[in-house]
Amino acid sequence: MSEFDINISYPTEQTAYAERVKRIILSDGTHTPKACVVTYGCQQNVSDSQRLKGMLSLMGYEICEAQEDADFIIFNTCAVRGHAEDRVWGNVGATKRLKKQNPRLLVAVCGCMVQQQAVADRFRESYPYVDILFGTQVTHRLPEFIYKRLSGGKRIVELALENGEIVEGVPVDREGKFKGYIPIMYGCDNFCTYCIVPYVRGRERSRSADRIIAEVKQMVADGYKEIMLLGQNVNSFGKGNDDGINFAKLLRMVNDVEGDFRIRFMTSHPKDCTEELLDAMRDCEKVERHLHLPFQSGSTKILTAMNRRYTREKYLSLIKSAREKMPDIAFTSDIIVGFPGETYEDFKETLTLVKEVGFASLFTFIYSPREGTPAAVMPDSVTRQEKGKWFDELLRAQDTIQKKYNNEAVGKTVRVLFEEEAPEDGYLIGKSSGTYNIYVKADKSKIGTFADVKINSYNSVLYGTQI
Ligand code: 5AD
Ligand code: SF4
Repeated sequence: MSEFDINISYPTEQTAYAERVKRIILSDGTHTPKACVVTYGCQQNVSDSQRLKGMLSLMGYEICEAQEDADFIIFNTCAVRGHAEDRVWGNVGATKRLKKQNPRLLVAVCGCMVQQQAVADRFRESYPYVDILFGTQVTHRLPEFIYKRLSGGKRIVELALENGEIVEGVPVDREGKFKGYIPIMYGCDNFCTYCIVPYVRGRERSRSADRIIAEVKQMVADGYKEIMLLGQNVNSFGKGNDDGINFAKLLRMVNDVEGDFRIRFMTSHPKDCTEELLDAMRDCEKVERHLHLPFQSGSTKILTAMNRRYTREKYLSLIKSAREKMPDIAFTSDIIVGFPGETYEDFKETLTLVKEVGFASLFTFIYSPREGTPAAVMPDSVTRQEKGKWFDELLRAQDTIQKKYNNEAVGKTVRVLFEEEAPEDGYLIGKSSGTYNIYVKADKSKIGTFADVKINSYNSVLYGTQI
């Protein structure tokens, strides 16, 4: 048993609300009600949106892509950087006009952004046409919110951050038929000084291993070929549970599920990345040879200011150890450029680390101050323009590394999962477990299947042939 109250099935009162919503929205008989879900941010949000869609389908809505067609629009927002937030204000603002065209349109905003007090206040005061506003921990109550608003209630504002309960059994609409997400934990306790996530997603809590394994088995039976285990910090999975199952053990359990499928996971924090976990990766043939391990900065001084709780040396030793155990492993990372107090000398340490490791790809960000975080009040004397120059220097360095990395792939034989059609006619994009994207001549019907591929050449993209 977990210390948390884990409901085994979707709360019956929400199913009852969903039925009532259905009766209201289908009552005119001639109109098919449509709902549009607009998602910003990380995979966790994409996964949450799949649950929003699952609940909307349960209520009788047809999911649509265009906001103009919708009777219900929900914005699932991200607060990690200012840029994502700016887009939300503009896009939510545009619904005022849509409401004039379609008087039955309801607008909702949820996710990390609204969990900040100042943002919630601004929505309340300046966006009266937003009908429903709710935070990250009450997502499962969407049917209740829609019902209450549709039946004449006041605007709904529900922002409680309770930090405990994990609600299981929320219906999910996993769009893709062969790649799927499984959230394994929620929240974050790390409080990196630049990051808003611990304030908007609350404390870390893990699902029970039993529930996760049951979901994996179901997805494999449904034909899924790639399962991504999701959490802000998967390496601290299981800390609140009392069954002794940590992330390394969970990986082994997922690997033991029968079937031909791949396992990925995201995101790992270097401070919790143990030898036990690397051993589990090495031993589990279904786990991809890929580790996304954000280092954020190559300078120990900046890492300390970021409260990351590892040093440059510790990070490099982890990389070395992972390579010793899995010589073909690919690394990817997140980097922040221009953290308060960072000098060009500090930034150069990020550059040298990037060159030393040789990442398959990078997610790079210019530091964005987030109100309420410790870093937002740290002195920051470097201009945005200067940070932009460092950022470009980093991109150029990575571009050279990536070309070399891809050139070295030529001649290798790898197993790929065909994921989508390539921009070139007659080609599909196949993804190797080590993150290579390879263009291969193959029929569309092969999307969602595995194939062995020889990599033949590299010319902006990798090309290969099936063997
Ligand atoms: N500014 C810039 N980048 C940030 N990230 C998180 N917070 C910030 C911020 N305030 C980046 C980190 C993290 C990724 C998901 O987003 O690199 O790993
Ligand atoms: Fe943010 Fe750090 Fe938690 Fe990642 S580990 S979500 S960067 S606080």
